Amino acid sequence: MKSLNIPYLHAAANRMLAVVMFIMALAFTATKSFAQQRTPWVTPKVSQEVKNPLAGDKSVLADAKVLYVNNCAPCHGTKGRGDGPAAAALTPKPADHSSVAVQDETDGSLFWKLSEGRNPMPSYKKILTDKQRWELVNYIRTLARNPIAK
Ligand code: HEC
Repeated sequence: MKSLNIPYLHAAANRMLAVVMFIMALAFTATKSFAQQRTPWVTPKVSQEVKNPLAGDKSVLADAKVLYVNNCAPCHGTKGRGDGPAAAALTPKPADHSSVAVQDETDGSLFWKLSEGRNPMPSYKKILTDKQRWELVNYIRTLARNPIAK
């Protein structure tokens, strides 16, 4: 029986292994850069249009402030500027609630985002009641740098 040409097989297998590793490295790099790329956080249209049942209700602001300080300020900061003590370690950075970009969003959109969350921000759907989450939307309005009438 003729013996197999072992050295040749080794060379072929090594080449194959090199190709496979190259492809895996490419795939890994592609996945990593994809994971780091953040798409804009866009609220579905129906949720943007949901009306705030507490719109303009200032009587909830005292309660809302306590909720905000306890739940949101660690990341968003007590004034909502996105500069809480945990912010330094986070990517992306917590949103600046006093900014025009955030204040330009509808109440429905802010409610949807704080209900759903997006890594590293937790979802508050099961942590806070609907009423508490709408109270927080009213509170976010008080953080506007240049309050805008809505
Ligand atoms: C662990 C840190 C963390 C906590 C706690 C946290 N957030 Fe956030 N929040 C973030 C980060 C980070 C973003 C930006 C997420 C993104 O853009 O993908 C964000 C974004 C948001 C946005 C979206 C702003 C916009 O217009 O896109 C809202 C609204 C919001 N947070 C409200 C809250 C409220 C209200 C609380 C408390 C109930 C809270 N967050 C608690 C980290 C946090």
